[in-house]
Amino acid sequence: MRTHYCGELNKQNIGQSVEICGWTNRRRDHGGVIFLDIRDKCGIVQVVINPDNQYFALAETIRNEFVVKISGVVIARESDLINPKLDSGEIEIIANSIEILNTSKPLPFQINAQNISEEVRLKYRFLDLRTDIMQQRIKLRSKVTHYMHKFMHKHDFLDIETPFLTKATPEGARDYLVPSRTHENAFFALPQSPQLFKQLLMMSGFERYYQIVKCFRDEDLRADRQPEFTQLDVETSFMNENEIMAIMEKMICGLFKSIINIDLLKTINNDKFPIITYENALEKYGVDCPDMRIPLEIVSIDELLDNIEFRVFADPAKDLDSRVAAMKIPNGANISRKQIDDYTKFVSIYGAKGLAYIKMNADAPASPIIKFLGAEATQNIIDKVGAKTGDIIFFGADKTKIVNEALGNLRKKLAQDLNLFDKDWAPVWVVDFPMFDTNDDGSLSAIHHPFTAPSVDIQTLTSNPNTALSRAYDLVINGYEVGGGSIRIHQADMQQSVLKLLGISKAEAQDKFGFLLSALEYGCPPHGGMAFGLDRLVMLMTNSDSIRDVIAFPKTQTAACLLTDAPASVPNKILRELNIKINTPKNNT
Ligand code: AMO
Ligand code: AMP
Repeated sequence: MRTHYCGELNKQNIGQSVEICGWTNRRRDHGGVIFLDIRDKCGIVQVVINPDNQYFALAETIRNEFVVKISGVVIARESDLINPKLDSGEIEIIANSIEILNTSKPLPFQINAQNISEEVRLKYRFLDLRTDIMQQRIKLRSKVTHYMHKFMHKHDFLDIETPFLTKATPEGARDYLVPSRTHENAFFALPQSPQLFKQLLMMSGFERYYQIVKCFRDEDLRADRQPEFTQLDVETSFMNENEIMAIMEKMICGLFKSIINIDLLKTINNDKFPIITYENALEKYGVDCPDMRIPLEIVSIDELLDNIEFRVFADPAKDLDSRVAAMKIPNGANISRKQIDDYTKFVSIYGAKGLAYIKMNADAPASPIIKFLGAEATQNIIDKVGAKTGDIIFFGADKTKIVNEALGNLRKKLAQDLNLFDKDWAPVWVVDFPMFDTNDDGSLSAIHHPFTAPSVDIQTLTSNPNTALSRAYDLVINGYEVGGGSIRIHQADMQQSVLKLLGISKAEAQDKFGFLLSALEYGCPPHGGMAFGLDRLVMLMTNSDSIRDVIAFPKTQTAACLLTDAPASVPNKILRELNIKINTPKNNT
């Protein structure tokens, strides 16, 4: 239908007869001349319709987003009419003929208008996707997946599909269930990840697998979580964690370089990504996904305060489950009283009972609680964090988890408010995760997933499960966990022991993962792998605030699709076929 794309036309085409197709981005009437900005996937070109043109009357009827086909001749614009904002800004098309291929109703919002509510954008997603920014993001996403396919193929990984209609794969969320019509009272679960299948593929001898694949998790949603999201999922045999991390790091570095021209290693001035332990991450940054662009560290000061009289600090300082910790903000002494009150409110979200501080004023350190701490303890804190005149020290005392979350999140907030980032990109590997989390009732749950290998033998693991570490690794970029993986358990007895520690009986294990346990007994190679959150990576690479902005058709925070109105009720007839009875039927079809 066309000879050229709008956005590709430039000075080289001057004098040529061209045919273009696209959407009317804007129509302007200027003293008897009509200008149409025609947009296609490559960009915009200006079309001129003079009053003596036989299509002038037709052009007057064209409204925004009408779809048109126009033929004409490319001419150079007068030098004072050149539009440097457009790639095609040095030329325009004098129209010979115009065909309206389709009309458009008045729009609920103008394409590229600012401040449109997300609700409206998602309801009319097909219009929202026409905006420059969404086109750019979705195109970049496609480049990312293209790069990943190329990289994985080059490194001998096979792209193998795994089922969506399957059994539960435990990744810590709830399952999305699909009722079976042919098997009464039975349900498929949509996979939370292809974890078990990719392990089976290693047991099947493929050695290197990857897949760019949808995963489904019914969990509380946030800006970086969707109920269905995409992973670059990878599994290998006969590779240890260092080898897997090295090849994945190479993939990520190549990805950033080739798609957004960022040399990650250069930005951190290193020849590989730094590695920190989980324990260190919590101790220094309060979270297990630290944003390493922020040059602030949390420092334990328990031993400085365990002997003072002020029990708010002395008691937690002595308690093994509690922590007293401080964070110095260079040049922070000018933070106002009001701001400090706001930060105190902020940390209370995480359960902190207060936020103590020492301002390093020129005359003397100032703090409402020096009188409780005493001069010596105050000086000890100042010395320990190395505070100088002009700095501020924030500190807190509570259960370790509360102090870490409060100061860890305060660290991020201060960095944003005071623009404390010292680099644009900061990747870091986090390793040595504990195997288990202890629940309030004393039971254990897997920190990664139940197929992750411990770094100790069965005996040590079973006698001290609380302190056992795993062979898991996460990749964190700018404070976002973009990927995680581990070396897996490849021996049946170890797998049984881990499941037992998780409170899963032999019968339940057999029922849920019998196929995996069985496969472990027929020559299972040592194996391990990793999965990246594709949406999160693209969110970072496009500098977007939410993963919804890099998914063509995302769900809302309540896991609904405003465009299609899914999820929706189902006619009773279909429910009957599926043998499903609903408590409060909403429809009577
Ligand atoms: P994990 O659960 O850590 O590991 O997931 C891997 C990566 O997927 C991304 N991610 C998500 N992205 C968007 N929305 C979500 N709801 C969501 N949940 C996770 C994150 C995360 O780092 N099978 C293991 C991987 C392995 O061990 O190989 C797994 O799924 O970026
Ligand atoms: P209070 O004695 O409760 O009035 O607290 C005196 C000061 O100590 C206030 O500035 C509080 O913000 C601070 N504070 C109290 N409890 C804690 C705590 N657990 N951690 C940090 N600061 C605290």
